[in-house]
Amino acid sequence: MKNIIIAIDGFSACGKSTLARDLAATLGFAYVDSGAMYRAVALYLLDHLVPIDDLEAVGQALEHIHIAFKNVQGQNRTFLNGEDVEDAIRDMRVSAVVSLVAAIPQVRRMLVRQQQAMGQAGGIVMDGRDIGTVVFPQAELKIFLTADLDQRVRRRMLELSARGLEPIEAQVRHNLLERDHIDATRADSPLRQADDAIVLDNTHLDRQQQLELALQWAYARATEV
Ligand code: DC
Repeated sequence: MKNIIIAIDGFSACGKSTLARDLAATLGFAYVDSGAMYRAVALYLLDHLVPIDDLEAVGQALEHIHIAFKNVQGQNRTFLNGEDVEDAIRDMRVSAVVSLVAAIPQVRRMLVRQQQAMGQAGGIVMDGRDIGTVVFPQAELKIFLTADLDQRVRRRMLELSARGLEPIEAQVRHNLLERDHIDATRADSPLRQADDAIVLDNTHLDRQQQLELALQWAYARATEV
């Protein structure tokens, strides 16, 4: 099969990373969680007390941020300056500010450049908000994932509970809505469906069903091009 690029975009907690990971594992492609990169930058700024609205300080901080992904015991984990931050970047304190950090053009410029370098050889599945529109406008397959808000809240609650946290439903719902709003209305590369993206509503689909649909599209695109 040809080493195509698969871009998956959509609102928060639609299951983008689950689909992206499943696709990558089945196809033997690399998987990149671009949201984890924005989360790692947000974590660094929080830990180093860098005010998010001080663009000069943010610009300086970016020079000290190195993000990498490593496979640890079969799990794709995010490293910030050599430290495993995979768990820390999922905390609510990071979720609360990450959309504001992701709206800063310097942050986007740096991360988009790194994401494009990771996809140079193809054979990659990347999920995020601007993958099909900005990072890889040439991607052979673009999927725009959606799901009902209630379903998304339920899934995020389960995910956080599974990690031993005690999420509060009203807080999770508020955070999803707020992030969706900031992500879709920011000036720099807002979340939007690419014109040539296929919409996949997974509200009533289970993990296997959504994977099978996406696989059909991937095989079709890989033989078409
Ligand atoms: O996918 P996620 O929820 O982990 O992403 C965290 C935040 O990062 C999200 O609120 C918006 C931002 N983001 C972005 O702006 N562009 C991307 N390609 C990926 C994420």
